[in-house]
Amino acid sequence: MARVETTPNRPYHLVIFGASGFTGQFVVEEVARTVSEGPNGNLKWAVAGRSKQKLEKVLEQAAGALSKPELRTEVDVIVADVGEPDSLAAMCKQAVIVLNCVGPYRFFGEAVVKACVENGAHHIDISGEPQFLEGMQLNYSSQAAEKGVFIVGSCGFDSIPADMGVLYTRDQFRGTLTAVESFLTVSSGPEGGCIHDGTWQSAIYGFADSQKLQSLRRKFNHKPLPSVGSKLRRRGALFFSNEIQQYAVPFMGSDPSVVKRTQRFLTEEQQASPVQYGAYAGIGGIGNIIKMMFAGMMFWFLVKFSFGRNLLIKNPEFFSFGMFSKAGPTRKQMEGSSFQFSFYGEGYTDEQDPSQGKPNAKIRTLVQGPEAGYVATPIAMVQAALTILNEPAALPKKGGVYTPGAAFAKTTLIDRLNKHGIQFSVI
Ligand SMILES: NC(=O)c1ccc[n+]([C@@H]2O[C@H](COP(=O)([O-])OP(=O)(O)OC[C@H]3O[C@@H](n4cnc5c(N)ncnc54)[C@H](OP(=O)(O)O)[C@@H]3O)[C@@H](O)[C@H]2O)c1
Repeated sequence: MARVETTPNRPYHLVIFGASGFTGQFVVEEVARTVSEGPNGNLKWAVAGRSKQKLEKVLEQAAGALSKPELRTEVDVIVADVGEPDSLAAMCKQAVIVLNCVGPYRFFGEAVVKACVENGAHHIDISGEPQFLEGMQLNYSSQAAEKGVFIVGSCGFDSIPADMGVLYTRDQFRGTLTAVESFLTVSSGPEGGCIHDGTWQSAIYGFADSQKLQSLRRKFNHKPLPSVGSKLRRRGALFFSNEIQQYAVPFMGSDPSVVKRTQRFLTEEQQASPVQYGAYAGIGGIGNIIKMMFAGMMFWFLVKFSFGRNLLIKNPEFFSFGMFSKAGPTRKQMEGSSFQFSFYGEGYTDEQDPSQGKPNAKIRTLVQGPEAGYVATPIAMVQAALTILNEPAALPKKGGVYTPGAAFAKTTLIDRLNKHGIQFSVI
């Protein structure tokens, strides 16, 4: 069973690494709000990063935002730098779980995973970078299993709503669910909204290096998953979706990769029936299509060259038509924003054999919640950590590198998220 107890030598349930980052700040606030949900109603935690001064400022800000002045004095600060392995080892020795908010993960993530595995700390990240996530699975699964350590990636908006949403849809379906399509829409209030530069940079380097992902995948040497039920038809690159009554495109983020890995784990380790998955995102009307095509063409051209990448990195607002910014969204913008994932599933009732004929039953479910990047992501990350701490017996039998769906399929994570404003429902 996973280690979840603190000891005098390992005093913190949670250490938030990268607490001084844009997202890290909000993870700090979310942890401070949920201390009573820790084991025995308590949570011991600390913040970590490379600048003591910045970390103290983060605690100061959180104390003000939450009206909890005690945060200034009661939360410990650990100085650790990705470039200094000894400092990472010292941090990991003190933590039951490291909540890693230092990205882009392709540059900074592996050293932290390695230090966690070697020093017996579980690791939760909010990466949306398939190359990093799958690379960690390839390189650290067996060591993590030997050490009884859980390395759970993608625990933010990428990809908990999609991955747990598919499992929720499967569990609500009466019979064998064989395919799900999800349609993501986001909305913002009168103040608008945007995504912080940290995610923009992760996306730039991810697209620039996408060929390496294919060679990484070949190293797994996976057999194709058995196909159950009718094959899910792939939609085009741009289409009008009757489901969400707007134009839609294939979702470019990490959700398809994460869901596929979860389905492989559940099929191979738990003899579950695999669910095929297609992910799409709504983009609105004709005006947005023109903007997106223009921005997309510039992005694809520039991302191939180092001078182009520098241009993109220096000018996120210009090249993304305001979707990304160096300052990130304001609190007011976050309050007015929300996301909605609609899942359309199909399958076979118990009376019908999935190897014969077409699916004879459908299901529609919804996962909806607050602003995706800096409200929903901290909630999902912190609830993932609390699930490890509170429900070790419901985790997979051995440690390893897991997707959220693989790690949390048998836990109450969905109930926990429901209580915190990320709501799963059947329509
Ligand atoms: N899954 C999701 O939906 C989701 C949502 C939000 C963010 N994210 C991901 O989270 C990551 C962070 O995003 P962000 O916008 O918060 O970025 P950010 O504001 O740039 O924060 C980066 C953090 O990393 C720290 N850092 C950088 N180099 C370091 C080093 N050598 N040693 C220790 N710490 C170091 C920074 O410390 P300093 O403050 O000292 O510079 C800062 O705390 C990105 O990969 C982003 O894609 C994912």
